[in-house]
Amino acid sequence: MNFPPRVTLIDVSPRDGLQNEPEILTPAQRAELVERVTAAGVPEIEFGSFVSPKAVPQMAGAGEVFQAVRRQPQVRYHGLVPNLKGYENALAAGVSSVRLVVAASAPLHEANFRRTIDESLADHRTIVERARQDGVAIEAVIGGSFGDPFVGPTPVAAVMHCVDHYYACGVRAITVADTVGMGTPKQVIAVITTIQRSYPDVTLGTHFHDTRSTGFANVLAALDLGVLRHDASLGGTGGCPFAPRAGGNICLEDLVHLLTGMGIETGIDLEALIEAARWLQGVLGKELPSRMLKAGPVYPVFKPVSTATSVVS
Ligand code: COA
Ligand code: ZN
Repeated sequence: MNFPPRVTLIDVSPRDGLQNEPEILTPAQRAELVERVTAAGVPEIEFGSFVSPKAVPQMAGAGEVFQAVRRQPQVRYHGLVPNLKGYENALAAGVSSVRLVVAASAPLHEANFRRTIDESLADHRTIVERARQDGVAIEAVIGGSFGDPFVGPTPVAAVMHCVDHYYACGVRAITVADTVGMGTPKQVIAVITTIQRSYPDVTLGTHFHDTRSTGFANVLAALDLGVLRHDASLGGTGGCPFAPRAGGNICLEDLVHLLTGMGIETGIDLEALIEAARWLQGVLGKELPSRMLKAGPVYPVFKPVSTATSVVS
């Protein structure tokens, strides 16, 4: 297998990690989570989503979270946005990096966003045009890229329908997400190589859930194909409130440990990250899936010597 010397990890715990939790954290607690994770050297973080507070009360006040965070200049803070209203709210809060979200499979998409995939994609074209004027960076996250809990595996062509659209709009950073943790490395290879062949200039990212213990195998498959950006969640929190049997994201500190053991740099201080996960476990008041919290690290702990930076310009 081929492994890169360095990758960029993106923590999605303040968004994906919390959106399915019965315990609703205040914007101040969520801002503290963002600060603890980024203090450990994590270079990018999804701090929240600009969605309807009626649909996802856990994400109410995403703008307040963003404004409360003492932001570091080298860290990228992404807000997840499903529609124009969400974009306007993110812009009003001063957000400068937006991740547009769609699902590649219709039942999963419609359960989340109550409109068709093509209606959302048309809305996203408008947002991309607006963002160009507003100086806001745009990425796309394609949920359900490997499977949909309502209908089963997602055909690669369905993922490409979304990728083609975003590419045509000018989006050059695209993350394929396994929202419900249904994918296998074979599917990961099929989706990623298809996108790479069609659009070699797209910066690809992954977003895996470990619902069925395939998440880390999927990351390795993507690493072998040269994918350099990977989402993960502090403590292994996470899950989609609109998908049955959704499980947590791959655990960020477990991923840092795995990569460190393979000699792949992340720029993240593993000990500080584990401390942040311990804090989150206390705040949520329940045991988190993190193996680092249970077993502790084996591989030497990396101490950052330089500022972590993103691979996306
Ligand atoms: N942020 C906040 N409020 C929003 C919004 C947004 N992005 N988009 C719509 N709304 C509000 C509208 O203003 C309206 O408010 P009102 O009832 O006070 O008048 C209400 O939501 C309904 O608007 P409508 O356009 O009919 O949307 P909807 O009810 O069909 O909901 C979504 C659409 C996308 C807003 C909603 O389904 C949603 O937030 N889904 C989030 C799913 C999610 O986060 N999944 C996990 C992440 S992948
Ligand atoms: Zn997710």
